[in-house]
Amino acid sequence: MTGYDVLAEVYEWLISDAKLPPAEFAASFDDVLKLLPSNAHVLDCSCGTGQLAVGLAGRGMQVVATDASEAMVRRTVELSEEFGASVRAVRANWEELPDHFQDNTFDMVFCVGNSLHHAAGATGRGAALESMSRLLRPGGRLVLTSRTWELVRARGSRLEISDRLVRRNGRDAVVVYRWEIAPHWEKEHHIEIAIAQVDVTGLVLVRSELLSCWPYRYEELEVELHRVGLQTELSTFDLEAENYMVVASKV
Ligand SMILES: C[S@@+](CC[C@H](N)C(=O)[O-])C[C@H]1O[C@@H](n2cnc3c(N)ncnc32)[C@H](O)[C@@H]1O
Repeated sequence: MTGYDVLAEVYEWLISDAKLPPAEFAASFDDVLKLLPSNAHVLDCSCGTGQLAVGLAGRGMQVVATDASEAMVRRTVELSEEFGASVRAVRANWEELPDHFQDNTFDMVFCVGNSLHHAAGATGRGAALESMSRLLRPGGRLVLTSRTWELVRARGSRLEISDRLVRRNGRDAVVVYRWEIAPHWEKEHHIEIAIAQVDVTGLVLVRSELLSCWPYRYEELEVELHRVGLQTELSTFDLEAENYMVVASKV
């Protein structure tokens, strides 16, 4: 059971309106997808509830979706069925990926939506990136998106409560993030996420989970990518923006 097994049930309240439709989630990567043949082999290795994987399959790509959480993988299978998309979904954490797939298999590997910080520190992150790199064919690309942890850490521990109700499946919820920022970068940090659904009678149903995470500086990430044979080709890193994308190709 991972923390995300609980959140899987209510994960749509955490996805932005723009990324909920699979085609739109995939379209947010148009700039990198245009580098691929239409039948490319792609892996989403932290697939969550499957929006990106299903969106990529909708473009004719051969898609594998993996995640450490069994419940997330189940939701990906359900979404694929709902959209009639052909997605192979497998429960595997990053370090287990080489047990399931051969080296040099994929044209593109996605690790997006604030996932990599769940790898346990520099060692766990190195092992995760090593797995992703092994599965890429030479010239293949890793597409990674990340929070700008430099910004997140500068704000310190805090409570963040959504300033409007989020409506999904006809139900409204307040989304709360509690950030527990450790004094040092390399220490385990925590994010507690609560989704408080309010029904028409005023009843409140709460699902919450405390997640562990290990932040990293952008410059560390660049070194770690390089160490596993990946060369940064494009980066949108900006110290003033909340998130960034890195595209790194296998040398
Ligand atoms: C914030 S969610 C992002 C999900 C999806 N990529 C998205 O953008 O909506 C992080 C995902 O990473 C997965 N995850 C966490 N640790 C993992 C690990 N060690 N190996 C593989 N997946 C992991 C979680 O189960 C969760 O589905």
